[in-house]
Amino acid sequence: MKPALHAVGNPLPEVPLYTPSGNECTLFEQAWHRRLPVLLKGPTGCGKTRFVAHMAARLGVPLHTVACHDDLTAADLTGRYLLKGGDTVWADGPLTRAVREGGICYLDEVVEARKDVTVVLHPLTDDRRILPLERTGEELVAPPGFMLVASYNPGYQSLLKALKPSTRQRFVSIEFDFLPPEQETAVVAAESGLNDDRVRPLVVLAGRLRALKGHDLEEGVSTRLIVYCATLIAAGVAAADAVLAGMIEPLTDDADVKAALVEVARAVIG
Ligand SMILES: Nc1ncnc2c1ncn2[C@@H]1O[C@H](COP(=O)(O)OP(=O)(O)O)[C@@H](O)[C@H]1O
Ligand SMILES: [Mg+2]
Repeated sequence: MKPALHAVGNPLPEVPLYTPSGNECTLFEQAWHRRLPVLLKGPTGCGKTRFVAHMAARLGVPLHTVACHDDLTAADLTGRYLLKGGDTVWADGPLTRAVREGGICYLDEVVEARKDVTVVLHPLTDDRRILPLERTGEELVAPPGFMLVASYNPGYQSLLKALKPSTRQRFVSIEFDFLPPEQETAVVAAESGLNDDRVRPLVVLAGRLRALKGHDLEEGVSTRLIVYCATLIAAGVAAADAVLAGMIEPLTDDADVKAALVEVARAVIG
């Protein structure tokens, strides 16, 4: 933490809580100081986005987040000409803004984006650190305070959507997974306000449901879903109802699979 980075009278922005599972904070900080791009891999809802928010606040740098989706093109990231009262004016996209202003540009779920996005990422992730803007003829050089971070879920992709090795090999990669039960319990308790003793069985249940991944389920229960479920219980919802709405319904639309999951939940939660 470097309080000196903040102007006097400008209080430190609140640092979002993040419980590390290994050396990811140190690695990220070193990558930031060495200007290396970072790729976060791991299942949905295991803390990747929270981690980036935490690190940006800790380092005292602006965070530009882009939620990638399958329609996202290179132009959405870099910018485009817009019509404004009869004139055409250039409007920076979020990536261009981040390169101009400095800070962390976080491309959340980057594999979702269109393939042409890699065209703008490649020159930014090698030692040139440039962003060519074809449409304006500019070639922006990323300032030292610029860092590119991307995340993806390697387990979730179809072959069509895997991240190409030529892109993957431009990033330092950090693997994320769900926290061990004791730490996950503490995180869920802190996020939901439900006490540890009532959270613990939910975490046990999540572990059982995660073990079914690949058999009946495409994805296991995320930490986020346990937080939802615990939040409902803390608000007074009966545990069985909260588990159904917060941890089972979101996992499957298949009636048979759902019935099986309800049985697992009954055995664990009672
Ligand atoms: N290590 C962690 N420390 C603190 N909160 C966490 C952690 N992991 C998960 N969470 C909780 O789970 C939620 C989902 O995490 P998120 O970062 O959005 O997941 P991802 O980006 O990997 O899909 C967060 O909002 C937070 O409540
Ligand atoms: Mg995320």
